[in-house]
Amino acid sequence: MESGNPPAREQLLAELKSRLPDTTVLLRDEPLARRTTLRVGGAADLYVEPASETELAQVLQWCAQRRVPFVMLGRGSNLLVRDGGIRGVVICLAQPHFSRVEITAQRLHCGAGAKLKQVSVDAKRERLTGLEFLEGIPGTVGGALRMNAGAMGGWMFDVVESIRYMDYSGNAYDRDAADVPVEYRSCPLLKENIALGAVLKGHPAAREVVEQRMKSFSQKRWESQPAAPSAGCIFKNPGTIPAGKLIDELGLKGTRVGDAMVSQEHGNFIINSGHATAREVLELIEVIRKKARAERGIELETEVEIIGE
Ligand code: EPU
Repeated sequence: MESGNPPAREQLLAELKSRLPDTTVLLRDEPLARRTTLRVGGAADLYVEPASETELAQVLQWCAQRRVPFVMLGRGSNLLVRDGGIRGVVICLAQPHFSRVEITAQRLHCGAGAKLKQVSVDAKRERLTGLEFLEGIPGTVGGALRMNAGAMGGWMFDVVESIRYMDYSGNAYDRDAADVPVEYRSCPLLKENIALGAVLKGHPAAREVVEQRMKSFSQKRWESQPAAPSAGCIFKNPGTIPAGKLIDELGLKGTRVGDAMVSQEHGNFIINSGHATAREVLELIEVIRKKARAERGIELETEVEIIGE
């Protein structure tokens, strides 16, 4: 460090390993393409799955001490990792402590790593309505909280009673959802803290009602969204027109850069039609933004998070 050069990855790995119990999963040069739904992007220098809040706090404290950057990874469904990969640490809350869903008194106590699909299926089993819209969002509870993810007219914080989160120094807090400001596709508090979990609330209903709602949401999604690998909607909807409709009207469906292609099914999806690279996806994003600006004066803002080198 004295020479000003960053410590080698091997050294960082050894150092972090020596601080953590064996229960923490710790990998070096972990390819992230297979951990994202778009299936592009490079590797993470270090990849960590802590088994508990204590282990997560230890990782965060080490990162702060050593000035090693970190990013959180959920299911990687709203993420575009650049081809050069990620310097520093990628943390994923995939171990059982974080992926649990426990139901008591019409409330679902979920870890940040729980899959939304799982949450909606568990709610259905308990005959709770209100969470059906989560069925088709290919994310985790943590990602959905941070993004205030939405579908079918609902968004995540509609069903959240309280959240638990950790600051970057490793301190954990609980907070009522009513005291957490949220916006369309954003929860600013969780842009600067890490979601650990949430208590979600459903309402009792007949099993057929819940089943019917889930079925109709699923059907609507399959009719309007592509099945090919993608990162969901690429752009936020600008106030004036849905981004998908705009891109459709601009005649951009089917436009390609390499293997990255604007979906024929839905204009706001870019699909990986084979072996797309992050560079190709980013170029295609620029093609779309440029045309929307030139022809409609609309500034499209990406909804997917773009990270890495
Ligand atoms: N439309 C077109 N052409 C297209 C796509 C859409 O004309 O190629 C029209 C549709 O016919 C409809 C309107 O645009 O009249 C809106 O389309 P849609 O109902 O598909 O909703 P959206 O606004 O494009 C939003 C969310 C989706 C979510 C759906 C379903 C955003 C950016 N997107 O899409 O979320 O699944 O509603 O509720 O808010 C995501 O966040 O990744 C995502 C996919």
